[in-house]
Formats: sequence, C-alpha cells, structure tokens
Amino acid sequence: MSYKAKFRVWRGEGGEGKLEDFTVEVNEGEVVLDIIHRLQATQAPDLAVRWNCKAGKCGSCSMEINGRPKLGCMTRMSTFTEDETITVTPMRTFPVIKDLVTDVSFNYQKAREIPSFTPPSDVKPGEYRMQQIDVERSQEFRKCIECFMCNNVCHVIRDHEENKPGFAGPRFLMRIAELDMHPYDVADRKDSAQEEHGLGYCNITKCCTEVCPEHIKITDNALIPMKERVVDRKYDPLVWLGNKIFKR
Ligand code: SF4
Ligand code: F3S
Ligand code: FES
Repeated sequence: MSYKAKFRVWRGEGGEGKLEDFTVEVNEGEVVLDIIHRLQATQAPDLAVRWNCKAGKCGSCSMEINGRPKLGCMTRMSTFTEDETITVTPMRTFPVIKDLVTDVSFNYQKAREIPSFTPPSDVKPGEYRMQQIDVERSQEFRKCIECFMCNNVCHVIRDHEENKPGFAGPRFLMRIAELDMHPYDVADRKDSAQEEHGLGYCNITKCCTEVCPEHIKITDNALIPMKERVVDRKYDPLVWLGNKIFKR
C-alpha cells in the first residue's frame, strides 16, 4: 500500500536556510531515510544527508524528526499517521554543513581530550584478569555507535555554545566513567572529569538516555556512578587530610 506523505525538510548551508515542503511517495515497510532518498532521486538531487549502513549501526544518519533526535534509518514511517506532516531537520547542537548534514567534529575533539586506557606498567597484555561483572559493565558502554544524539540533546550545550569548551557531553563522560571503573586503568580521572570535562554541568535530566538508540543507561550506569566516585574522593577523610598536609 502506497500513499503520499507531506515532508517538511530543512534546506540550506553557510548558516542560512529554511524549511521546504515536499509531497513524496511512501511504500509499506519504509523508514524516513528511504523517503529522504526518494526525495533525492525524484525532486531534490542536491539534498545532503549522511548515512552508511541503513541498519542502525554506523551512527551516521542522526537527524531530528518532528523535533526529536532519531536515526533516519531506524524510524519507521508506520509510526506516523498518513495525514501528518513530518518535519526533518539537522541536529541542532552542531553546525550545519548542508541540509541535514552537520559538522560533528566537536565530538572527535572531545574524544581526543580523554587520555586513553592506562594499564599498570607491570601488567602485560594477555595478563589482564577481570571479573565478568567488570567485563559486562564496559560492554554496555561499548555498544555506543557514536551517533552523537546524546550530545545533541543535552541542554548543557544544545543552546549554549559557550559551554562547549568545558563539557565533553554524555557520550564522552560515559567514556571517562568506563575507564575509571576499569579494574586495570590506573589514570586519575576523577578530578579531570569534574574540572576539565564538565561532569558538574550534568544535572541528571536523563535526556541523553532517552534518545540513545542502543538503549545504554548513560545516566544511571555511567554519569551518576561517576559523580558518586568524584564525591567519594572529595570527602574521603584520608584524601582530605592528604590535601591539607600537602597543600600547606
Ligand atoms: Fe549515540 Fe547512545 Fe553512543 Fe550517545 S551513547 S553517541 S546516543 S549510541
Ligand atoms: Fe545532559 Fe544527560 Fe546530564 S542530557 S544533563 S548529560 S543526564
Ligand atoms: Fe547507519 Fe542509520 S545509516 S545508523
């Protein structure tokens, strides 16, 4: 069964643009990305959209559909009524390159700022022994497909360009938490999480968790435990005494 859907798509580049209306054919079983591709094929050959896998695994096709961050390839047309207008816009937190394609290099910059896994010098690869619970904890975080929709939706940077230098965003605060909880990581990540990567900005609104297509419990399993680890460190009586003595 086919029908004609009303689409309103953001078009523009160089900081300028507007929503344009289209009427486009929809067939049974299709997703929003199929419709964007049909638009390219039939009405707007220069419409820019980023995608790769069309299977919800590469994280390339992040966009905002009716104002909500979604993967275009995983959003079924059957979730909309046939008479509704579907609005498709680029992710708002990142600069637009063209149409639906944003410049997500902010995220790569943040990734580079986090020191990599730092094992103890006397343990060699192949000698690591971990409990299953520690393996499973990181496995949840490793499901991340780097769609950056969590960073896109977080209010700390969504409308606050000025917060970007000091906030890694939920995706990379989760990375710091993963490393801090790793039994073989010896880097000190607690102070830097708070002071350099902006953990303190997060006020646990959980919007990041809501939009994660991999259903990672970013807030409950990474951000809140990391906040607890930072606080435990700060109020640990031995650390407090050490700071007093050595700061004199
Ligand atoms: Fe996307 Fe989830 Fe990874 Fe954030 S944590 S980048 S929402 S997959
Ligand atoms: Fe932002 Fe997620 Fe915290 S949306 S405020 S990082 S819980
Ligand atoms: Fe790869 Fe959508 S195209 S996640």
